[in-house]
Amino acid sequence: MKEYNVAIVGATGLVGQTFIKVLEEYDFPTKEIKFLASSRSVGKKIIFKNKEYAVEELKEDSFRGIDLALFSAGSEVAKHFGPIAVEAGARVIDNSSCFRQDKNIPLIVPEVNFSDYKLNKLIANPNCSTIQSIIPLKAIADAFGLKRVVYSTYQAVSGSGQKGKNDLLRTLNGEKPEFYPYDISKTCIPEIDVFLDNGYTKEEIKMVNETRKILHLPNLAVSATCIRVPVLNSHGVSIMCETEKEASVEEVKSVLAAFENIVVLDDGKKHIYPTSIVANGNDKVYVGRIRKDLSCRNGLLLYCTADNIRKGAAANAVQIASRLAKLDEI
Ligand SMILES: NC(=O)c1ccc[n+]([C@@H]2O[C@H](COP(=O)([O-])OP(=O)(O)OC[C@H]3O[C@@H](n4cnc5c(N)ncnc54)[C@H](OP(=O)(O)O)[C@@H]3O)[C@@H](O)[C@H]2O)c1
Repeated sequence: MKEYNVAIVGATGLVGQTFIKVLEEYDFPTKEIKFLASSRSVGKKIIFKNKEYAVEELKEDSFRGIDLALFSAGSEVAKHFGPIAVEAGARVIDNSSCFRQDKNIPLIVPEVNFSDYKLNKLIANPNCSTIQSIIPLKAIADAFGLKRVVYSTYQAVSGSGQKGKNDLLRTLNGEKPEFYPYDISKTCIPEIDVFLDNGYTKEEIKMVNETRKILHLPNLAVSATCIRVPVLNSHGVSIMCETEKEASVEEVKSVLAAFENIVVLDDGKKHIYPTSIVANGNDKVYVGRIRKDLSCRNGLLLYCTADNIRKGAAANAVQIASRLAKLDEI
């Protein structure tokens, strides 16, 4: 198989470190690899496939000879360096929200809309909560049609990067919060990303817009409430959806169980349902608590968990890259 020169941008961050782990686990065909971050990290050591590398500073000439650049260094870095990497000939997959709503840039969850990659050499990776929700929703949409979606999220502190994890550990130790506005060890916080004038947060609007774009349903009725919870890793999302066709709980369960990368865990009386614990460290989406919504005709309720750093970020990007490599489309 052809091998590729790879650059990891943001290699010292939570997502960047997980890119490295997932590239190794998936045995991505890597010829050479470089690890890029800010000037603060220059010289830090990274081990990849038993070889030691030093982190380099991200610069405009960093992408010479690079075939694949995996970005996880925030929107500002992506905005400036993403097009530079493409110009240098690289396929770029970016984890920030910078390009997600650009209509010329594909926003991809491989199980759902992989073929959109043809649109552009630069690909955006969706928001973590959207990725894990859109997989069961795609299964439901294909089988029964989709009219309306309401999300309530329970998002782990690792979704805020290393600063979020540090704040939970710090406050559990009895120290004052330095990152979140309240003591995350003692409360859920209904604020993720900045507040907008319409009373929603940017995270909530990301889920609305990204759901429509990935499912190719621009008029889908979607709403979201996003909550940060005192869990170290792996998000939970409660999903209420209304389908076009009526569907029994058993039909929904079998459609979900047959869909790629979904694991149905649904036997409440035996305490079998999705948890953050079962999702940690792997790339499946766990779905359970599947039942009829009592407030409308074709309404369904379900709850899903997934590792937000892996399936919600790094693994989703590496899965896109792996599929592209198989098609020789990097
Ligand atoms: N955490 C999640 O669940 C999640 C999920 C989906 C998407 N994302 C997105 O992925 C990105 C990274 O998130 P994270 O959680 O990994 O954050 P993080 O732990 O704070 O890491 C940020 C990374 O970006 C690098 N960086 C920052 N400014 C830079 C600059 N000017 N030039 C070069 N490198 C720079 C940092 O390098 P230094 O160490 O040198 O500062 C570090 O490697 C964000 O856009 C985030 O929204 C995160």
